Amino acid sequence: MKRGLWLILLLGFSALSFAPERAKADLDYLVGIGPRVAGSPAAAQAAEYLAQQARAAGYVTEFQSFSYTRSRDTGSSLSLGESRLEAFALSGSPGGSFEAVLQAVPGIGAAGDYDNLDVQGKIVVVRRGGIPFLEKARQAAARGALAIVVVNNEPGGVRGTYGATGPIPGVTVAGRDGEGLFARSGERVRLVVGSVLEQAQARNVIARRADSQAPGVVVGGHYDSVPGAPGANDNASGTVTALELARTLRSESWARDVWFVWFDGEEDGLWGSRNFVQAYPEWVRGLRAMINLDMVGVRASSALGIGGNPALLELLERSGVQFNDIGNSGGSDHTPFAQAGVPVLFFHWGIDPNYHQPTDTVADPQVMAETAGVVRLVLERILGR
Ligand code: BES
Ligand code: ZN
Repeated sequence: MKRGLWLILLLGFSALSFAPERAKADLDYLVGIGPRVAGSPAAAQAAEYLAQQARAAGYVTEFQSFSYTRSRDTGSSLSLGESRLEAFALSGSPGGSFEAVLQAVPGIGAAGDYDNLDVQGKIVVVRRGGIPFLEKARQAAARGALAIVVVNNEPGGVRGTYGATGPIPGVTVAGRDGEGLFARSGERVRLVVGSVLEQAQARNVIARRADSQAPGVVVGGHYDSVPGAPGANDNASGTVTALELARTLRSESWARDVWFVWFDGEEDGLWGSRNFVQAYPEWVRGLRAMINLDMVGVRASSALGIGGNPALLELLERSGVQFNDIGNSGGSDHTPFAQAGVPVLFFHWGIDPNYHQPTDTVADPQVMAETAGVVRLVLERILGR
């Protein structure tokens, strides 16, 4: 046989199955860039890489640009006497520098925790948990508090969000730092909340076949990550799983209308997926499914977690796929699609200990390959291979 023919056969076959070594190279590249915070040069580099890889795999690519306002913490702290605790501004918090009396509020800072307390003009300290940060801030603000400090319910720190513009400045402190605060009610403290508002310029990456006019199914995941975390499992894992799936599906005739979308701005509040849904209502109306891959590279639980549309879940069950039905968890890019009436499936392997940490540096291509196998099966069933 001629050498050229061998080469074509070889390429043809190698393109058919998920190649863990290719996924590993993609992972290494993305993680090597560092944290892919929306709007940063690192995120731009990641987007270029995805587009270029998708084009090399035979897809037509396009960037969908959008912008939004977010708050960023330039450095926050709580000082009492000689000691200075590191604090983390709640996303959406107003910024500023305050000196006032500290007031311990027993419990989690719900309405009933304020009985017989005067918090007017004071900085309140409450425990994390039970109700959202925003609700804690509202309770404190309604009683005239100046600012709120939320002590984490675990020894380490946590970056939280108001999910909106908060009524008063708010920060979290690590559990191990903050527990002592409850005994220091009445002392004067200095709180610095380094929260600033900025515009983020973000981009989704869309890949489709040249012969596809509209998406039948969107397969995607967010490629951005939180500040300080290289985002290997969250979510280079889902990003790369989608990319390698794209390579393997390129030459399948039944997969013509599978479009791949890598979302930006997820970590700031699902901005990329919301923008896609808003910008392309006609495409969204025509979708038979949206498949979201988020945290699919670390086996953090005993089985693959899948949530979403009951009919699609039943189809998976009938096909003999082993998975945990994780119900309707909202915190990722399938949500805007589900809200628009699209049948969604959300794939993830659970929360690993490195979630949103600088140590989120590993994802296992074998776990991703396993996940991709299930995604492929769903696609084949939906699109009638
Ligand atoms: N990857 C997470 C969501 C997630 C959590 C997937 C657990 C799988 C298991 C995502 O990037 C994230 O952190 N989402 C935020 C909410 C979002 C609206 C900012 C969250 O879950 O807190
Ligand atoms: Zn994520």
